Amino acid sequence: MCGIVGYVGNRPASRILVDGLARLEYRGYDSAGIAVGHRKALRTTKAVGRVDDLRAKLGDEAGRVGIAHTRWATHGEPSERNAHPHTDTAGRIAVVHNGIVENAEELRAKLVADGVTLASDTDTEVLPHLIAQAVEQQDSLEAAVREALRVVEGTYGLVVLDARRPDELVVARNGSPIVLGLGDGEMFVASDVAALVRHTRQVVFLADGEIATITATGYEGSRLGPPTTVDVDDADYDLDGHPDFLSKEIHEQPSALRRVLAGRLDGRFATSRLDGLHLDPRELRGIRRVTFLGCGSAHYAGQMGAALVEELARVPADAEQASEFRYRNPLVDPDTLYVAVSQSGETIDTLAAVEELQRKGGRVVGCVNVIGSAIARQCGAGMFLHAGPEVSVASTKAFSSMTTSFALLALLLGRVRDLSAAHGTRLVDGLRRLPDAVDEALAASDEIAAVAQKYAGARSMFFLGRVRGSAVAREGAQKLKEISYVHAEAYAASELKHGPLALVDATMPCVIVVPDDELVAKNISTIEQVKARGGPVIAVTNADLPDGLADAVIRVPSVEPELDPILLGVPLQLFAYHCAAALGRDIDKPRNLAKSVTVE
Ligand code: F6R
Repeated sequence: MCGIVGYVGNRPASRILVDGLARLEYRGYDSAGIAVGHRKALRTTKAVGRVDDLRAKLGDEAGRVGIAHTRWATHGEPSERNAHPHTDTAGRIAVVHNGIVENAEELRAKLVADGVTLASDTDTEVLPHLIAQAVEQQDSLEAAVREALRVVEGTYGLVVLDARRPDELVVARNGSPIVLGLGDGEMFVASDVAALVRHTRQVVFLADGEIATITATGYEGSRLGPPTTVDVDDADYDLDGHPDFLSKEIHEQPSALRRVLAGRLDGRFATSRLDGLHLDPRELRGIRRVTFLGCGSAHYAGQMGAALVEELARVPADAEQASEFRYRNPLVDPDTLYVAVSQSGETIDTLAAVEELQRKGGRVVGCVNVIGSAIARQCGAGMFLHAGPEVSVASTKAFSSMTTSFALLALLLGRVRDLSAAHGTRLVDGLRRLPDAVDEALAASDEIAAVAQKYAGARSMFFLGRVRGSAVAREGAQKLKEISYVHAEAYAASELKHGPLALVDATMPCVIVVPDDELVAKNISTIEQVKARGGPVIAVTNADLPDGLADAVIRVPSVEPELDPILLGVPLQLFAYHCAAALGRDIDKPRNLAKSVTVE
């Protein structure tokens, strides 16, 4: 959600910090701040709004150590006094923090009783005061941070700067990501590699419970592993000629899917290879159920995954919202394969679901985009998406990479059961053709823009689909809501006459997903029911529909019927995109949302 950057080295810190913050703005952005250490004092600057507002306020900061933050308010309104870094009363200790201090009220009351005057409404502010109280009694800043954190309940990824120790920073992690970037005579720290890769691709991910000290020449922590090289370039965070990241990421889908499939299709045995699952054929055959766990779009991807697994492997499968799963004392079955689905790999609800499962002996693998992320590490096995960085808040290329990975999983599970070699070969060929077919689907962008122009002014829309089309419709509604703020609700098309039809009239456009399968006639009858009530119909289809049936028809190519839902989702992303553009929305940064939800 919020973004953290830190620097210690030989260059002026403020420019490096602010450039790093700009890379993290997509994670949260109602205010920003920076603290730079120079001549045993801290210079702190804060601004409400964007990182550029902060940049405009900075003077010539000489310090070569500093910390910075972009904030997405959880406790306390967006304002300069609530923006990070927070400092102790003497202005010696500065802290930037992601996460939530759950016992902040109690700690604030104790600090007030100790005579401390609190300057903000935030939970974070307790941290610099607690560290300042500890620092006099301890012989290192790290020891003071450790001491202070003893009384803190909640989650944190934090960086601490002590004005009297301008050669070091202390970092700590518990539930919110922190990654160190190793430079040549300089060190970086951030909550996301996006802020680091301009300077270095050598990184160290902190695990939960770790505390470390970093200096210009190294890092020290009790449990820190060796550095890894991240497969991400600074250029991956450029717009590359697109007006926004969402457009870029939608159009990157063919190449993202090529990466998902690379090395994972086995034509000879008509199957897939997912070595990262660490499951041999006997173990694969022993799986009695597959349950996908994720939140938001990752949950809808899981629903598509469950449909694929059931259809291709004939193994019972379902998808659950990780956010519900973690709180409802689920029955954990040792013969179920649980798949934790997450683009960021940091979503707290999904991580908590994984931990709960593991505690109860469940076997869980990850389907994650960000290598080194908490969920990837916690699972220890799974399938990486390799979709490249997804910057825009709304998920698109990660979503289609997830569903394509699930097709691979379904194929693998099917081929150790009763899916025939001929069927497997048809699917392998279909998957090989999928990236080009997505490219073809994207070519309809202008046509979809014209449809979006016509309907973007609607107050509300229905998204309808049956069986293979049903999760596609759910994700379509989610995309429209998120980025255009047009209310949208998804229903199984068969449910229409059990309630929602009452709302259909000329002001309620209905987007209907019609795969070219044995249910086309049923979907045609749904369209007729909507038309009979005067409802405008936008059909998204790879079937041949009778002329004049729908008010607008968005045509989609086909690969194989089982895989076509992946393709049918693409025009719905473009539809949401063009509706949002027609309404003048801030496409990459929809209001109230942040890219990765690391707090509850
Ligand atoms: C939708 C969207 C969110 C995320 C959800 C899970 O476009 O972006 O619904 O899908 O917050 O995020 P990850 O996949 O990072 O766990």
